[in-house]
Amino acid sequence: MERTFVAIKPDAVQRGFIGQIIERFERKGFKIVGLKMLLPTRELAEKHYEEHIGREYFERLVAFIISGPLVAMVVEGNNAISVVRRMMGSTKPQEAEVGTIRFDFAQVKEMNIIHGSDSVNNAKREIDVFFKEDELIDWHHDVERWLYE
Ligand code: TYD
Ligand code: MG
Repeated sequence: MERTFVAIKPDAVQRGFIGQIIERFERKGFKIVGLKMLLPTRELAEKHYEEHIGREYFERLVAFIISGPLVAMVVEGNNAISVVRRMMGSTKPQEAEVGTIRFDFAQVKEMNIIHGSDSVNNAKREIDVFFKEDELIDWHHDVERWLYE
């Protein structure tokens, strides 16, 4: 079992897709172990995207991420990091596979609806950036006996 960090970005919140996006992870059988809406500070956004400091798009990226509330989630399941990335689709929505979240909901990489961690280390780091330990709920997902052998 793996945990990954997912953010439903401000464009998705504004466009009314919170429910449809969460629904995809529930439908897949993932367990949501952390969930909250927040208006990120610049400091939090810069920490989250610290790998991108110095890129020409960094300032625009941070301005976008702090432009409105986002929904932060921790999603748990089998290979959650890579499976969530596949469910999201590639960074540029026009190049994402048909049926992925980014293909289905977005047009441009600057407003691509969703974030998901890309590695075990980044998942740990990003979960720590957004959640305190007591905000993560270790609950028993009864349906798992119908999902995993
Ligand atoms: P990146 O980590 O490369 O993509 P992903 O979100 O798929 O992991 O980039 C982080 C975000 O930065 C990306 O979702 C959108 C934004 N971005 C741009 O605005 N312009 C760019 O050229 C790139 C590479 C990213
Ligand atoms: Mg990334």
